Amino acid sequence: MSVENLNTVSLGHSLQKEVSGARAAIETRLATIVPSAQTWPARLHEAQRHALLSPGKRFRPLLCVFVAKGAGLDGEASIDVGCVAEMVHAASLILDDLPCMDDAALRRNQPTTHIAFDESTAILTATALLNRAFGVLSRLKHVDAEKRIELVDLLSYAVGSKGLIAGQMADLANSDNNASIAEIERLNTLKTGALFDFSVEGAAVLAGAKAAQRAALKDFSYHLGLAFQLMDDVKDTIMTDEEAEKSVGRDVGKATILALTGSDAAMERLAAYIDSAKAAIARANLNNETTLNVVLDSQFSFLKS
Ligand code: IPE
Ligand code: IPE
Ligand code: MG
Ligand code: MG
Ligand code: MG
Repeated sequence: MSVENLNTVSLGHSLQKEVSGARAAIETRLATIVPSAQTWPARLHEAQRHALLSPGKRFRPLLCVFVAKGAGLDGEASIDVGCVAEMVHAASLILDDLPCMDDAALRRNQPTTHIAFDESTAILTATALLNRAFGVLSRLKHVDAEKRIELVDLLSYAVGSKGLIAGQMADLANSDNNASIAEIERLNTLKTGALFDFSVEGAAVLAGAKAAQRAALKDFSYHLGLAFQLMDDVKDTIMTDEEAEKSVGRDVGKATILALTGSDAAMERLAAYIDSAKAAIARANLNNETTLNVVLDSQFSFLKS
C-alpha cells in the first residue's frame, strides 16, 4: 500500500474512532437522562426508555457535539444539548407514529411505543420527554445563565407552533398535489429542519460563536433539513420495512418533492441540497470540517449504494 493510501486509511480510522467515541458518550448520557424503568409509574418510564434508547442513528446529538467542538467549545455541555434534541426527536416520533398521524407499527426495528404499550401511555411518554428536555437545558453544568435561557428559547421556538409542530400540522393536511415545491420545502424545513436548526444553533450558542459563523451554520442546517427529509421520502418509497427498520409507505398520497418532480429531478435536488450544506460548513470555518463531513456522509451513505 502506498504511503498516501496508508495516510487516508489511518485518517479514516481516527475519524471513525472519534465519531464512535462521541456516539458512546451520547448513549451513556441518554441512559441516565431519564428515570430508571423501575421508577414509579414504571410503565411510563419503561415506555420512555423504549422510545428514547431504541437504536436510532443519533444524528442530531452527533451534529451538536461536532459543531460545538469545531466552533471551539471545550467541555461536555454539547452532549447534554444534543441529548435534549434526541429527547424531542423521540417525542416527535412517538406522536408521528400514532394511528391518528402516520399509523406506523415499526420504529427502529421495534414495535412503536403505542403498539409496545398503548396509545395513552405513548401520548403521556411523548409529553414527558418533551417536558424534561427543557429542564435539562435549564440545568446545564458550567454554562452561564444567559446561554441557558437562549437555549430554552431556541428549543421552544424549534419545537413549537411556528416550528416542528407547525410542520407536522401542515404535513397532516398535505394531500394537495398542486402544492408548489416552495410550499413543500417550507413544510420540510419546519417538520424536520427545525430540530436540526436547534442542534446546530444550540452548539453555536454553547461555543459562543460570532454572528458570521452562526449565519453560515444556519445555512448549513437549513439545507441539511431539506436534504434529510427528501432522502427520507425517497427511502419511504423504495425501501421495505426491514431495510428502513421502520414502517414505510406511510406517506403515500402526500405531495412530496419526489412525488412532484419525479425521481431523477428529486435526486438532483437532493445532491444540490447536500452540496449547499457542505459549502455552508466550509464557510462556517470550523476546525473539524473533515469530521463533520464524515458524520454527514454517513447519514447519506445509502445514496451511494
Ligand atoms: C426520522 O429521523 C424522522 C425524520 C425526520 C425523517 P431519523 O432518520 O434521524 O430517525 P432515527 O433517529 O435514526 O430513528
Ligand atoms: C416525521 O416525518 C418528522 C417528524 C417531525 C416526526 P416522517 O413521518 O416522514 O418520519 P418517519 O418516516 O415516520 O420517520
Ligand atoms: Mg409523518
Ligand atoms: Mg412518519
Ligand atoms: Mg418518512
